[in-house]
Parts: sequence; structure tokens; C-alpha cells
Amino acid sequence: MQPAEFFPTVRIDRASPTPMYRQVETGLRRAILSGRLRAGVRVPGMRAYARHLGVAAVTVITAYDQLVAEGFLAVRPGVGTIVSDLTGHPAAVSDGAHRPQSLPAPRRPIATRPGPRRPFFEPQASEWPPVEIDFRTGSTRLDLFPHRAWERCLRAAWRELAAEPAGIATTYLHPSGDPRLREALAEYLGASRGVHCEPDDIVITAGAQAAMRIGVELWVTGRGPLAVEDPGGPHLFRALEAGGAELAHVPVDQRGLRLELLPRESAGVLVTPSWQYPAGGTMPIGRRLQLLTWAARRGAVVLEDDCDSELRYVGHPIASLQGLAGQCGATVLYVGTFSKVLFPGLRTGYAVVPGPVRELFLARLEASYRGPGALEQRTLAGFIAGGHFHRHLARLRAAFAERQSLALTALDRHLGGLVEAAPAPAGAHLVVRITDPCVTATALNRAAVALGVAIEPMSLSRALPAPDDAFVLHYARHGLAELEDGIRRLRRAFDVSGSASTWSRGAASA
Ligand SMILES: Cc1ncc(COP(=O)(O)O)c(C=O)c1O
Repeated sequence: MQPAEFFPTVRIDRASPTPMYRQVETGLRRAILSGRLRAGVRVPGMRAYARHLGVAAVTVITAYDQLVAEGFLAVRPGVGTIVSDLTGHPAAVSDGAHRPQSLPAPRRPIATRPGPRRPFFEPQASEWPPVEIDFRTGSTRLDLFPHRAWERCLRAAWRELAAEPAGIATTYLHPSGDPRLREALAEYLGASRGVHCEPDDIVITAGAQAAMRIGVELWVTGRGPLAVEDPGGPHLFRALEAGGAELAHVPVDQRGLRLELLPRESAGVLVTPSWQYPAGGTMPIGRRLQLLTWAARRGAVVLEDDCDSELRYVGHPIASLQGLAGQCGATVLYVGTFSKVLFPGLRTGYAVVPGPVRELFLARLEASYRGPGALEQRTLAGFIAGGHFHRHLARLRAAFAERQSLALTALDRHLGGLVEAAPAPAGAHLVVRITDPCVTATALNRAAVALGVAIEPMSLSRALPAPDDAFVLHYARHGLAELEDGIRRLRRAFDVSGSASTWSRGAASA
């Protein structure tokens, strides 16, 4: 039993621009990681701790909520909030007992199947007509975009570039990208994503896809399989398979990749720890440390795809894996993208590349994918440095949270009893599970498309066998009225597919 007056020490700097709750959070996180606060210790009651620190109760509540979301703390009913055990599950990481053969064999490689986004070179099949209401991932709408600010940044960027006689517009840009954009990004990533980097560590790439391709070519291909989450991002899988990577699909649970099923000979692991794509779920700190320790021991690279983390509605974005890599001795390639938070047509992503391989990474990049244009890069640099990106993110979060809440209400109103969907604290889509055993997601999508609505069956994101009973409902493209209309049409699609479905759930998993 610990004494009632036990209060962990955290340093509060009232003059600092860092919000008070972030200071409490950081202090407690450090104390837990350093072992000063040991697993199982009950943290003080929020009000008493707030009084002790001389801060408002909401400050401590916010800090605790965030640390619970990250897995540093756990709420135990009847006990209170305790420090999680971060290291106590070594058996949770594969020691090689699980060979890849112990996983069910993928049905067939993702690259040979149609994905939610059809490759442009494939002829448009009649089953993919244009849709009025599109709940598939991979696109957005510019209704929330700050057009004026972007236009101003674009004009300013052009003036700057045109005034530099030997500048980045008049020759091939260095493969690491515009130094201004790298500076703006380094500041942003350090402050909001907990990424350890200097501008020189950052490489601007043609989307996350190019960064991943190079990372896999450098560290993985020819050395062993790349373990990927199942479900995962099918377009990324296609790109990596097309580049020669052998993918080992590993199932996820509500906390991300199931480490105990990692194939021993994996040369790398591709993860979305901040918000698993597309199933949802945040990898807690204990599992993160286990993954990094495993990777360091095996000499495997961790490819961190941070694609949805900025769209977090509850608390603030979870700090990156990359920020923890140093203490575990692991190699992490941190990859981010503007496709989801700005627009995919910008084709801009970035990687934080570990020092020892940076030159090699750049050489490969230069020889394969030159990054986005100098004008776009400089525009984006001004957009971030001028605070527009930050304000845009805040606006997106508020609007998407509202859309999600409306989607949940509409699902309940129109499809109550036929589907289940839980609120998601992050991302731009809901995962909807069909509870009606007569309807598969594939059949529902077919019927929906005939009514002008498209959904994305989860089966498109999986290679491992699983019931075809869930779909992704992406709400970034539609305002509230369209969301309601689309979900109402899904009800009609249900009625059609329930009677007309020739599929059975088993067929999809065969
Ligand atoms: C899982 C995942 N990672 C990354 C991306 C972004 O890829 P890119 O930056 O190449 O557009 C996406 C986009 O849809 C995605 O779904």
C-alpha cells in the first residue's frame, strides 16, 4: 500500500509556452520510462495531484487521459489509475517459435487483386461506375481547405523562386528537398509528433509511397520478408510488392500488430502505431517498446507509417515510435504524408532517415523518384511556417469529429440492428461491422454502387482469410447532408443485397 501523500515530481514551468497539461504529461512519461514510477504504482487522485502541483484539475485530467490513451497508465476499476507494465511481457514478442508458416496463408497477393483505388492503367470495369457519394478512402474534398492562404503562399513561393537566379526552380532540386520545407517540418514534427530530427534528417518524397519503396529496397529486399499489418493499406502493399518485397501478413488486434506472430526472419516491419490503418487502435507504449527491442535484437528495420495520426480528436496526437527508437537501439524510418491532411494530388510526403544510410537513401531516391516540384515544396514551407497548416489541422479535426458523430447517428437511425460501429478517436473513417449474417460487405458494396454510393469492403485491405463482414466508411469527402443521404441509401442497398446476395461469408475467406 503506498502512502496517500505520494506525488510524483514533475517540473512545471509557468513561463513556458508549452501548455501545462503537456508539461505534466511529459514529466510523468519520463518518470515512467526511466523507471522512477514503477509498474503497478497507483498515481495520485487527479484533484489532489492538481492541488499539489498548483494547477487546475482539468490539467491533470487531460494529462492522465492522454497517458491512458498511450498505454503509460491504465485505469483499474476499484483500484484507480496505475502505471502500466511496459516490460513485463517478453513472451509477447516472437522468439522464433512462430514461423511464418504458422500464419494462415494469404489468399493471394494484394497486388494481383483490385484495390479500393483501381490502378489507372486498368480498364474501368462496369462494377466501378462513377459514384455520387464516395465512402472509399484515398480522396478528400477541398471544402475545408484554406484556399486564400494557399494561393498567397503559392504566389509568395513563386516570387521567391523566380528571384533566385541559381535557385531550386532553375535546376534539379537536391533529392532531400527544399531546405525551407525541411526546416518547417523539423519544427512541426518535433513539437507535435515527438520525432527527433534536424532539418537535414528529413527527406521530402513523392508521397509516403516513394519513401516506403526506398526504405524497403535499402533494408529489406533480398534479406527477408517485410512483416505488414493485416488489414493494412492495399495501395502501399501493391507498391512494395511491385518493388520486389515479399510481404508477410501479420494480424492486428485492437492494439495494433500482434508481435507474437511476427515471423522470425522478417527483415523489416511496416506499422501504423499511432492509429492502425484501417482497423483503428493505438499501439500502447509497452508494445511499442517490445517491438523496438525485437527489431534492435533482430537487426530488422521498423517502417513507421504515421499516416492518420494527426487526425486525432481526443487528446493530442500520440508521440511517434521514432522518438523512442534511440533508447532501444532500433532503426526506424519515420514516414509521413500530406495526402490525408491536405490533398493527395500534392504528392508530398517525407521521411526521417537515420544518419548512417542517408546518403544511400538519397542516391536511390535521385535515381528513381524525384520528389514533388520546387514550387509546391516552397508553397508548403510557407503554409506551415505561416501557421496555416496548424490552423487547418484544428479545423479538420473539429469538422471530422462532427462528421463522424453524424455518421454514427445516421448508421444507428438507418441501419440499426444491421451494423455495428464504434466511435473512433482518430482517422477519417469508421469501421462498420455487418451483423446481418446474410449480407457480405462485397455484396453490399455492389448493391450500393448501383444506388450511387461506394463503400470499401475491409476484405480489400486483407490478404489473410477473414469474414467479409466489415467495411470502411470514409467521411472526409462529404458534408453532413451527403453523409446522411449516403447512409440512407445504404439501407436500400442492404435490402437488395440481403435477398440478392449469392455470396456467403465463408466464400470470401476461402
Ligand atoms: C496506410 C497509408 N499510408 C500512407 C498513405 C499515403 O500515401 P501517399 O503519401 O503516397 O499518398 C496512405 C494513403 O492513402 C495510406 O492509406
